[in-house]
Amino acid sequence: MRVLVTGGAGYIGSHTVLLLLEEGHEVFVVDNFSNSSPESLRRVAALSGRAATLYQADLLDAESLNRVLGETKPDAVIHFAGLKAVGESVAKPLMYYRNNVTGTLNLLDAMELAGCRNLVFSSSATVYGECTELPLVETTQRSATNPYGRTKLHIEEMLEELAAADERWSIAALRYFNPVGAHESGRIGEDPQGIPNNLMPFVAQVAVGRRDKVNVFGGDYPTVDGTGVRDYIHVVDLAAGHLAALDYLAQRTGSFVWNLGTGEGSSVLEVIQAFARAADKDVPYQIVDRRPGDVAENYADPVKARLELGWKAERGLEQMVQDMWRWQEQNPYGFPDEQPESLPDEELNEQIRLAASKAATATDPTTNKN
Ligand code: NAD
Ligand code: WQD
Repeated sequence: MRVLVTGGAGYIGSHTVLLLLEEGHEVFVVDNFSNSSPESLRRVAALSGRAATLYQADLLDAESLNRVLGETKPDAVIHFAGLKAVGESVAKPLMYYRNNVTGTLNLLDAMELAGCRNLVFSSSATVYGECTELPLVETTQRSATNPYGRTKLHIEEMLEELAAADERWSIAALRYFNPVGAHESGRIGEDPQGIPNNLMPFVAQVAVGRRDKVNVFGGDYPTVDGTGVRDYIHVVDLAAGHLAALDYLAQRTGSFVWNLGTGEGSSVLEVIQAFARAADKDVPYQIVDRRPGDVAENYADPVKARLELGWKAERGLEQMVQDMWRWQEQNPYGFPDEQPESLPDEELNEQIRLAASKAATATDPTTNKN
């Protein structure tokens, strides 16, 4: 299948691109590198021995997007590109609505123009708002508590209305719970800019010595040990969920929604302890005030995805922290800094192809080189 991946250089995107390449799909990536670097795509090429084709473009640039879709003629699009920091969305709501909602509108227009009506969208468990009825099922009434969450909710509604209005569309909204971990090679992983907003990358940076201690937001929740409980999901399991959704959409039209979670919750202290074991390091922490807007506990009901997509998360917390630690230890400061916008697409694609062919040659038994 020819698959166009927006935001394919980012954390979840790069792991999904790797899986798509490994499964033999032809992959095209659109990214503006606002929160990523082309190094992830070079490493994906080195891991898979195959190259995705990169287009540096912003979803807000409708003309470029139309050109990319026209040139690549994808069978399906996986749409990761978006801004995702909750706190930043409160400070800069318009930036979030513009980037996430207008970016998605531009993408849908470009898809329509190119005659591609197959879409997998990155939604989020954030659309369950402050719901406390657990586990969270797909039919739970949606709400939002911040502009980021509202962009996801608006986009989900927009996609449902589109599929209802034009029966040629096949659309999946995947509601991720808390994605963590990294590819088992330790070559690709999450590379947050500045102070991490999320728990697991923060813990990883404490373990590697970049930060002193973890602030645990609240120790008096009605949970197993008083700290917040979440459904952490390994990013490689999450990537596999996208391929399962693509298969499902290939045979049906309409709009569909699935939770991608494990169905199991872990507390903040359980995460810190598991990480400390994996890294064989002390991970200092202190309990501080609750973070405004946090719920005590949430976890998915993952049954719908299992029954309809035949997908379920295979990796548990121990593997999540082990893989996350391997990535963090090998890349304490994430991917090396670079300014991709100074290089044209041809040059970056040449580098990606070179990384792929080196890897393919190294593993090709007919070359006697290894
Ligand atoms: P990420 O920031 O690592 O990846 C997003 C990618 O999109 C980046 O490479 C960024 O450069 C690109 N991008 C952003 N705006 C763009 C634009 N206008 N044009 C082109 N490229 C653009 O984030 P991620 O963690 O991989 O998340 C991917 C998607 O999953 C996002 O839509 C996010 O909201 C959603 N999601 C993430 C989480 C999470 O905790 N990581 C949870 C639920 C949902
Ligand atoms: C997990 C737990 C915190 C940091 C967020 C977004 C959500 C989705 C996933 C995109 C909570 C506690 C955290 C820290 C802590 N993203 N914590 N110290 O809040 O469940 O979800 O990311 O869609 O929309 O809201 O994830 O990793 O921030 O927090 O104690 O330094 O860890 O209170 O209990 P969250 P998180």
